[in-house]
Amino acid sequence: MPRLPFSLIRRAHSISPNLSLLLLATRSIPLAKAELRWLRDHVAVETDSSKPSPCNGDDPDILGVQRFARAVRLRRLCKRRSKGEPLQYILGTQPFWPLEILCRKGVLIPRQETEASTHFLASRLNTIFPRAESSPSSPSSASPPAPAAAPLKILDICTGTGCISLLLAHLLANKSPSSNSPSPEEAETATHSTQTPPTSGPGPGPGNRQLIIRGIDISPRAISLARKNILHNSHLLPPISTSVSLAKSSGGEAAISFRKADILIPSPNLSWCLSPPRISPSPSTPSSAFSSASPSSSPAASGWDVVTANPPYISPPSFSSSSSITTSKTARSVRNWEPKLALVPPAVPISSNISSLGNCSCEKHPEDIFYARILHLAASSSSSSYGDQQPPRVIFFEVGDLAQAIRVVELALCHEAWRGSFTTGTGRIEVWRDVPDMAPSQEQAEGSGEEEPSVTVQGREIPVLGTGEGRSVFIQRY
Ligand SMILES: C[S@@+](CC[C@H](N)C(=O)[O-])C[C@H]1O[C@@H](n2cnc3c(N)ncnc32)[C@H](O)[C@@H]1O
Repeated sequence: MPRLPFSLIRRAHSISPNLSLLLLATRSIPLAKAELRWLRDHVAVETDSSKPSPCNGDDPDILGVQRFARAVRLRRLCKRRSKGEPLQYILGTQPFWPLEILCRKGVLIPRQETEASTHFLASRLNTIFPRAESSPSSPSSASPPAPAAAPLKILDICTGTGCISLLLAHLLANKSPSSNSPSPEEAETATHSTQTPPTSGPGPGPGNRQLIIRGIDISPRAISLARKNILHNSHLLPPISTSVSLAKSSGGEAAISFRKADILIPSPNLSWCLSPPRISPSPSTPSSAFSSASPSSSPAASGWDVVTANPPYISPPSFSSSSSITTSKTARSVRNWEPKLALVPPAVPISSNISSLGNCSCEKHPEDIFYARILHLAASSSSSSYGDQQPPRVIFFEVGDLAQAIRVVELALCHEAWRGSFTTGTGRIEVWRDVPDMAPSQEQAEGSGEEEPSVTVQGREIPVLGTGEGRSVFIQRY
């Protein structure tokens, strides 16, 4: 990385000493100015919420002390930032569509690419799983209550902050989530208020749907943060229920849970975490009709409609700081501040994870291990007291680049579950770029040739949507 010219540092310092600190991290004065503004606002909100009682609020001595305390606090935060600490850990949050996701050291910061692909995924899911448009019967109605549609069941593996789970809950539960979302000012008030934000979303009504969403992660810190994120964003989520109360209602509600499990190692706990709850769709059925499907002894992720995962996918050489500049592709701030557990897969015996992948293997690319493992879990049928559980209809993976996307497509094509419906023309596999719903510009398309509209994998034409780097793989079966 080239050194910062001294003249630039001087210029920043002449505007504000804090700006020159921020410049060390941002390397651009306009960016440093933006960050300084956000940090100032953050300190103002912090100190406002810890203000002394209003009766002495006008006292010039107290105002002076407050101003001094703010300046000291701001300086401290700028120093932290100058050492490369991500802004999201300092401010404690990252916007994720309309949500505000709490961020803490030890848990990966949600990325904008994940935000864009989750939003695109939600629009796909709304088409694949249409809502029941019938309105629920009123209590006074003479006709028997219409049976509620079965809830849509989503399993989010490697959930981290819970950002994918919660954005899907926001976008899928209600007919038009954006029209129900509060204005930025209302959201600001709810988020920064010391009172508990309102927990009710639009609630039951025609076109709203029930969701069962479960996030799984190995990290206790991540699970604890994901649970906090439900509360922090409750004003933007559908009313949260337990799975039991979902069985009795027909409105837009969600049962969201986060559980700790290691997805790579078979265990009774993993089987329990992966087993979807069973719900009787009939509102008149007693709540005893709900139960967790008794987990089979070998873990399986079947029985869910949708499985999503943004797993660790960076190879050790691409992560390592000792690698040469050409092989280390991980930014220093990511390497130094974000958890390696979230980025680099562990070295585990490969054979135990891909036993059913036929001739496909990720021996040459151990960084693909989570994809192989999750495809295997999703394709494994599990039997429960309710009969055989089907593999998910949709699998969505975030990946590191186009090369990894192609390898993941190859792994998927090794499974009868997805190859079968692909061969008969009833399923589809697509690769999405960073911004899947934006066509590449003319220049990009003509430039490096990286924005090809399709790739050929095992003789099959796989569409590549959007613009940017290869970012995710979308697999659908019928
Ligand atoms: C790339 S982060 C993704 C976090 C979040 N889904 C997002 O998009 O921001 C990967 C997550 O996988 C979790 N993880 C790592 N190894 C795991 C394992 N063996 N089983 C379950 N989760 C694991 C990490 O703790 C981390 O939260």
